[in-house]
Amino acid sequence: MRLYNSKIAYGWISIALHWIAAIGVIWLYFLGENIEHAKEAGLPRAEVAGMVNYHAAIGALFFLFLAGRVISHYVQRQPAKPDQHRYLNLLSSAVMHLFLLMIAIQIVTGPLVIWTRPAAIDVFGWFSVPSPFTTRNSGLHELAEEIHALAPNLFWPLLGLHVAGAVKHLVFDKERTSLRIVRPPKA
Ligand code: HEM
Repeated sequence: MRLYNSKIAYGWISIALHWIAAIGVIWLYFLGENIEHAKEAGLPRAEVAGMVNYHAAIGALFFLFLAGRVISHYVQRQPAKPDQHRYLNLLSSAVMHLFLLMIAIQIVTGPLVIWTRPAAIDVFGWFSVPSPFTTRNSGLHELAEEIHALAPNLFWPLLGLHVAGAVKHLVFDKERTSLRIVRPPKA
């Protein structure tokens, strides 16, 4: 079984992390959007707090996969770029780096929003992740909250470009680049 990337293919670690992180990011994005809408609609504080706790618990469950996705991209070699215009390869790299940056920002600022209160992240009562802070840090709390609300604005443009690239290879160029992230080649 091919675990690691080679110069022509992704290995199973990259493939598994790509899809688990994709599910996590999309799920967390929509849970986050619900929080934003609930705040705008002026829902009771307790209801919004419940939504925030749910979002944070899912975030904590996905944390290692999201961190693993970012780290694995930078510690493993990446398969060669497809044979297409240099600018398209530059665009696809930029989209990938910005996506990974957005994930890194969210998994750092999300926990900070809770920890700077200071409070522990409670994961459905199963376990909790205690805060490294002992007193409230309002400055860091507000900064983390603002950045955490701002970075997901990258989500739709990046997802759109990422999916458009995959469709281009599959449908228009009729080649197998996009399938490299589904399973490694047999040989
Ligand atoms: C890639 C993953 C993530 C995405 C896309 C995401 C997205 C969002 C969005 C869109 C909001 C709404 C912000 C607003 O009020 O406008 C939000 C809120 C929040 N997220 Fe995340 N999030 C992610 C990961 C996490 C993680 C890992 C945690 C913590 C474990 C977390 C904790 C929170 C908290 C506490 C809030 C409420 C902030 C507030 O009270 O304003 N998030 N998230």
